[in-house]
Amino acid sequence: MREIWTEKYRPEELEGVYGQQKVVERLKAYVEKESMPHLLFAGPAGTGKTTSAIALSKEMYGENWKTNFFELNASDERGIDVIRNKIKEYAKTSTVSEIGFKIIFMDEADSLTPEAQAALRRTMEKYSHNCRFILSCNYSSKIIDPIQSRCAVFRFRTLTDEDVEKWIDNIAEGEDLDVSQEAKRLLISVVGGDLRRITNLLQISASTTSDITEKIVRESANIARPEDIKRLMKDAVEGNFMEAKKQLDELIVENGLSGEDIIKQIHDEIYEVPMDNRKKMELVDRIGETEFRLVEGSNERIQLEALIAAISKKS
Ligand SMILES: Nc1ncnc2c1ncn2[C@@H]1O[C@H](COP(=O)(O)OP(=O)(O)O)[C@@H](O)[C@H]1O
Ligand SMILES: [Mg+2]
Repeated sequence: MREIWTEKYRPEELEGVYGQQKVVERLKAYVEKESMPHLLFAGPAGTGKTTSAIALSKEMYGENWKTNFFELNASDERGIDVIRNKIKEYAKTSTVSEIGFKIIFMDEADSLTPEAQAALRRTMEKYSHNCRFILSCNYSSKIIDPIQSRCAVFRFRTLTDEDVEKWIDNIAEGEDLDVSQEAKRLLISVVGGDLRRITNLLQISASTTSDITEKIVRESANIARPEDIKRLMKDAVEGNFMEAKKQLDELIVENGLSGEDIIKQIHDEIYEVPMDNRKKMELVDRIGETEFRLVEGSNERIQLEALIAAISKKS
């Protein structure tokens, strides 16, 4: 099988992490001092949290990093007891490096219930003589205070358009791809700062050609054609709710687009719609709320239809 690009292009060193200068600086200081507290990495998906944890360990331990780094996923469906046993097993084995502690990296820590987090916190304390925990989460607000207060908190920011463009260029160079300006713009506007998703989409797009056009990206990413979104918005704004709904159905059912992608495209288009600013503001507010609900997992069809209804009512 061909190598997966998200692994192939994952930077080995902290220096190679894009757009997180402040985080990187602080992590490098830990490497210098060969000491660190427990860490909490918070930020959106695909912004470098796992990459930074691995790079930190590589720099801390050198070639022995693998025996000193243990990765766990908190969303392990077998629950906190299994996680605790794994941590216990790992923590018991003696430390091989001179550093004096090993690193336990726990991804998706915010998927643990508060009760499970309380159990995790006790585990962290129990093994803190020879283990440092790096917890990774999307939202630090979902992590209980007693854990937050024991960790140094690192905020990973969404990568800027510029960083994303550099990342695309980096892969294009490595794979000898010709990525058109329009294709880049589409990736940046729809996928945004999630470098994992960008990388995967580039790999899918490149499976048939090295000439990466906007059309190819749109097809591999299941992104709606801008003209379809424009039509949907036009119908909604003119008060043709049923027409707009039909258009939406087509995008979701026939083209298999995800609600989150559709909402991003609607957001991009709303500024182009002829409508007074006050109404636009209200709709942007509404878009924000719909997006939040979609991310939280509520029904896509209902949420998007409700949004279109709101747009239609403003006409
Ligand atoms: N800031 C970044 N700098 C360099 N590569 C990144 C960055 N963020 C994400 N990536 C790339 O995206 C993929 C996923 O990154 P990862 O660190 O696992 O993200 P997450 O924040 O979800 O843990 C990897 O291939 C990685 O190289
Ligand atoms: Mg991760």
